[in-house]
Amino acid sequence: MKQHLIDPEVCIRCNTCEETCPIDAITHDSNNYVVDAAICNHCMACVPPCPTGAIDNWLSVLAGSPHTLEEQLNWEVLPPPQEESGAQLEADGSVSAAAAARAAAAGAAAAAGILSEDSGLDGVPSTGAGSSVPPWSAAQPQVNLYTHKNPVTATVVGNYRVTDEDTESDIRHIVLDFGAAPFPVLEGQSIAIFPPGTDSSGRAFHARQYSIASPRDGERPRYNNLSLTVKRVMTDSAGNVVPGVCSNYLCDLKKNDTVQVIGPFGSTFLMPNHPEANLIMICTGTGSAPMRAMTERCRRQLKEKAFNGRLMLFFGARTQRELPYFGPLMNLPADFIDINLALSREPSQPKRYVQDLIRERAVDVARLLDNENTCVFICGLKGMEEGVLHALDAAIGLAGQEWPEVHAKLKAQGRLHVETY
Ligand code: A2P
Repeated sequence: MKQHLIDPEVCIRCNTCEETCPIDAITHDSNNYVVDAAICNHCMACVPPCPTGAIDNWLSVLAGSPHTLEEQLNWEVLPPPQEESGAQLEADGSVSAAAAARAAAAGAAAAAGILSEDSGLDGVPSTGAGSSVPPWSAAQPQVNLYTHKNPVTATVVGNYRVTDEDTESDIRHIVLDFGAAPFPVLEGQSIAIFPPGTDSSGRAFHARQYSIASPRDGERPRYNNLSLTVKRVMTDSAGNVVPGVCSNYLCDLKKNDTVQVIGPFGSTFLMPNHPEANLIMICTGTGSAPMRAMTERCRRQLKEKAFNGRLMLFFGARTQRELPYFGPLMNLPADFIDINLALSREPSQPKRYVQDLIRERAVDVARLLDNENTCVFICGLKGMEEGVLHALDAAIGLAGQEWPEVHAKLKAQGRLHVETY
């Protein structure tokens, strides 16, 4: 039979597959992401959203003895296919042939971009809240040009703080230059970086994924560079002091230091390219990176008279001084971008989240969503996803429409994109 497995060498541990799997067949520990053969039904929902293709592995194993979760959690590389003896072939032939045929068909369908039987509305797989297809006018992305086997070296040409110095949130704008190495990217894509060193078991650290914060033609136009928005992590999810390995490495980089990069990744969270396109961008903290990339792309296009859509931004941060890029954002003209800042810990102001502001602006949000040229992008804390979807639901309801129908249409048309972590 063919066993669905994740290649530990290629996986960047972004959690997309685990979030996407409709039947909870995928799990992980601090080392690997793994697929439970007893649960996985080869529905393929996880395959298109995986940014690296690490998920798309179908290894020949003996029927009845798939690799266990414990084995997979300890792998550093995928094992070779298992060999069948003649007796086993006879005994298991019909079962394994059927399973192999199903997996092969599923694999071929995925490779050809054809979707499985378990697809959702209008042929779009059910992959959570967001769409698994890009907007119709998105440019064709390049993906996986550099992998863990052939990373590219980039040079740091800038690293500066974009939050006020005396605040707790140390968020950095880091500019990487690729010199003569081709590194074509689109707004919404990400890269991954290898922190140097090894973990407590002596294994080299895995690469960490970061959204690109600059437009396709470079942080500096016509330079082969890009920028990232990185927050220094000093605690784990339980609040214990555990400095983040990669974020601290990146935040401490100096000009002319070099980093090992793989990517680019991502083929769905991409901006529309037609001049009439409108963007509703909803983000918290460093989730602003792709929004900055898209906004700057639109600003440059506007200067070339190649953009006349509308931009609406909902941006959440603790305080104004902890909101990355606050100064440059405030310099953008109000007739270019409709900015809504949700500040949760600003003294003397009530706590506001992005979803609160979406509710306040429900009429405008619903009107913009009603336009087929409008795409929605959500990026930031996992916790905001549900609240934002409820707020969109409420806005659509007020406009006399049914959210489930509108939601399904947005997903099917590649107009709703979600990246939360
Ligand atoms: P809070 O003050 O409650 O932490 P961070 O600075 O941690 O990256 O967070 C960015 C912003 O996102 C903060 O204002 C934070 O508010 C807010 N936030 C936290 N949880 C949610 C949520 N469930 N929905 C929307 N915003 C949230």
